[in-house]
Amino acid sequence: MHFSFRHLFSLSLLGLAQAAHHQVTVGNAGELKFVPEVVKARKHDTITYTFFAKNHSVAQSSFDKPCQPLDRAIFSGFVPNDSQDVASRTTFTITVQDDKPVWLYCSQPTGDHCQKGMVHAINPPETGNTIEAYKAKAKDAPKSTSPPGSLPNLGRREISVDVGKGGLLKFDPNNITEPVGTFVKFSFSPKNHSVVQSTFDKPCQFQDHGFSSGHIPTKDGTISPATFTIEVKDSKPIWFYCAQPNGNHCQSGMVGSINAPAQGTTLSAFVEKAKTAPAPSTMDASAPLGGVVLVNGQEIPSFDGNVLPSEFQFPHSPSATTGPPAAEQTLPAWGSPSIPEYFSSKAGGHNPAHWSWPESLSQSSASFLQTQLQLENLMTNLLWGAYLRLLPGGEWAGAYPPTIVEAIGTWAAQSVVAAGTTAQVMEKYSVRPFGACKWKLPLEGGGVNGFLEAWKGLSAVGMGMVLGASGEVAREDPFLVPVLVGQVGARSRAAGVVNMMRGRLAAVAPREVGLGVGLGWGWVLGRYVESCPGEVKVEGVEKGWEGVKVGEDGEKDGTRRVVVEYEGGGEHWVAWIGPWGELEYTKVKEGKKANMPKGWTGDVFVVVVDKEGLKLGEIQKHVVAGPEQVWL
Ligand SMILES: *[C@@H]1O[C@H](CO)[C@@H](O)[C@H](O)[C@H]1NC(C)=O
Ligand SMILES: *[C@@H]1O[C@H](CO)[C@@H](O)[C@H](O)[C@H]1NC(C)=O
Ligand SMILES: *[C@@H]1O[C@H](CO)[C@@H](O)[C@H](O)[C@H]1NC(C)=O
Ligand SMILES: *[C@@H]1O[C@H](CO)[C@@H](O)[C@H](O)[C@H]1NC(C)=O
Repeated sequence: MHFSFRHLFSLSLLGLAQAAHHQVTVGNAGELKFVPEVVKARKHDTITYTFFAKNHSVAQSSFDKPCQPLDRAIFSGFVPNDSQDVASRTTFTITVQDDKPVWLYCSQPTGDHCQKGMVHAINPPETGNTIEAYKAKAKDAPKSTSPPGSLPNLGRREISVDVGKGGLLKFDPNNITEPVGTFVKFSFSPKNHSVVQSTFDKPCQFQDHGFSSGHIPTKDGTISPATFTIEVKDSKPIWFYCAQPNGNHCQSGMVGSINAPAQGTTLSAFVEKAKTAPAPSTMDASAPLGGVVLVNGQEIPSFDGNVLPSEFQFPHSPSATTGPPAAEQTLPAWGSPSIPEYFSSKAGGHNPAHWSWPESLSQSSASFLQTQLQLENLMTNLLWGAYLRLLPGGEWAGAYPPTIVEAIGTWAAQSVVAAGTTAQVMEKYSVRPFGACKWKLPLEGGGVNGFLEAWKGLSAVGMGMVLGASGEVAREDPFLVPVLVGQVGARSRAAGVVNMMRGRLAAVAPREVGLGVGLGWGWVLGRYVESCPGEVKVEGVEKGWEGVKVGEDGEKDGTRRVVVEYEGGGEHWVAWIGPWGELEYTKVKEGKKANMPKGWTGDVFVVVVDKEGLKLGEIQKHVVAGPEQVWL
C-alpha cells in the first residue's frame, strides 16, 4: 500500500540558517590537485567541484583506506576534459550533512592520481588524522578503485547546455555523453527556443511521454532567466530538438543527443534525418513536461492558466515596470489609521469617509479587531516583502510577468488599506492596538513558491477568521459587516489567482471556509509568529497547536483518498471543515489514520480533536493538532 506524507511545507521554510556555497577546482592548470585541498564547511553548506584536464573524479574513502571507496561513497563519476584552464560544463555538487570529517580522492587509476596526492577533505581534524596524514597514507595505497557501477552518488552531477547561443540554431554541446543520474540543464538565448524530446526515427516530432520545456522566448541581447533541467534516467540514447516552427529550427539542425552511439544511429545520422523531417515541428500543448523549468531559480510548475509571460521579464530590464518610489517602499507605521495616498490608489480606492459610526463598540468586537490587526500586519508584511522581491532588480525578479507582480502589489496595498480601516475603527472607539507581534516570514532565503504557499494558507485563514467572527459582529456591531465583507472579497479574488499560479485549474475558485478566530489564530501562531507581546491573547489559544500529517492512501472509486495521521494516544477524531458550514468527523483508527469523508472536494481545513460531533465554535477547546489546509 502506498502511503506518502507531505510534511508541513511552511515548517521547512522557517528558521533556515543561510548556507554557504564553496567552490573546489579539480585538476586545474594540469596539476593533480584539489584546490583548496581542505574545506571547512557547516551542515547544509554546498560544495561544487569543477573539472579540468585530464579525466578526474571525486570519490569518498575512509581515513584508513585512501584511494578505495566507502560502501556508500560520494562519487561524481568521471569527467573527461581536455582543457587545463577552461572548466568542463559538467560539475558535481554535494551538500554537507554534518561537521564530521569527509575524506575524498580522485579515483583515476591511470597515472595513480590518488597516490600522487590528489586528495581532499572536508572538516579534517587539525591534529591526529590530518589531511597530511591522509595524503601520506594515500602514497602507499594500492591501485585506486571507484564505487561499483561508477555512477554519480550522494551529490548532483550537472552539465549545462546553451540553447541558441550567439544567435545560432544550435545546442552547445549537442553531443552529450553523461552517466545515468546526471542532470542536464539547458539555458536559453534569443530567439524563442525549446527543448523537446523525439525518437531517432521521427526527428522534429514530439515523442509521447517525452520531455518538453515549452517555448521560451528571450529578448535580444540577454540570456533568459529561465532554465530547463532533465535527468538522465537510463543509458538509452536520448534525442531532442527545438520545436520552433518559425524558421524551422529543427530541420535547420537545431537538434542534439545524449549518449548517442558512435556507430549506426549517430548524432550525425539524426541531423541528416531532421533536415528532411516534415514541417512544422510539433510539441505537446502543455509544458513543462518531464523536467523542471526554473525562472531565476523559482520553479514554474505549469504554463497553464496563462500566468506565464509571453516573454520572460528580466532583472534590470529598462522597459520593465518600475516599483514604488523610494519614499513609499516602507509600510505605514504599525497600527496607523492613516493610509498613504500611494497605497490607497494602488488598492483601487481611497479612505472611507465614515462608517455611520454608532455610539459604542462591544468588547468582543474590540478584541476581535485587536487580533485582526495583527493578522493584517502579518499579511501586509508578507505581501509587500514578496512584491518588492518580484520587482525588477529584486531577488525573485522575472519569476512572474509584470501583470501578476502588479496584482500582488495591489493585494499588498489592499492589505494596507484593510489594516488602516481596522485601525480607524479602533481609534474611533479608543481601542488601543496591542504591540505588534514579530513574524517569521517565508521570504528571506526562501523561494517564491514558499511565499505563495504561505499566502494561500494565510488568505484562507484570514477569511476563515472574519467569517467566523462576522456572526457575532453582525449581532452586536452591524456597522462592521461591510468593513469585513470587503476584506473577504479581496482575499477571495487573490486566492483564485494564487490557485492558478500554483498550476491548479483556473476554474477551481477558492471557497470561503469559516474557521473562527481561535482556530485561525492557533494556525498563525504555530507557523508565522516568532513572539507576541503578552497582552496579545485569544481565548482558549495558548500557543500554536502541532501540525497535522496529511497523506494519500491510494484511490477508491476513481478518486484519491486523503488521510490524516495522528500518532498520539487516546481516542481522536478528525474534524473536516468545509465551505458553507460543512463539518464532518471521521475517526482516527488503527494505523493512526482517518479517512476523508465521502464526496468532499476542494480546499478544506482539518483539525484533530479529542471529541466528536462538536459545533464549529466548540472545536478550539478540543484541538490536539492542526488546523491544516488540505486539497481534496
Ligand atoms: C575516464 O576514466 C575512466 C576510468 O579510468 C575510464 O573508464 C573512461 O573511459 C575515461 N573516459 C575517457 C573519455 O577517457
Ligand atoms: C572540456 O571543457 C571545455 C569547456 O567546457 C569544453 O569546451 C571541452 O569540449 C571539454 N572537453 C571534453 C573532452 O569534454
Ligand atoms: C559524439 O560523441 C561520440 C562519443 O564521444 C563520438 O564517438 C561521436 O563521433 C560524436 N558525434 C558527433 C557528431 O560529434
Ligand atoms: C514563441 O514561439 C511560439 C511558437 O512559434 C509562439 O506561439 C509564441 O507566441 C512565441 N512567443 C513569443 C513571445 O514570440
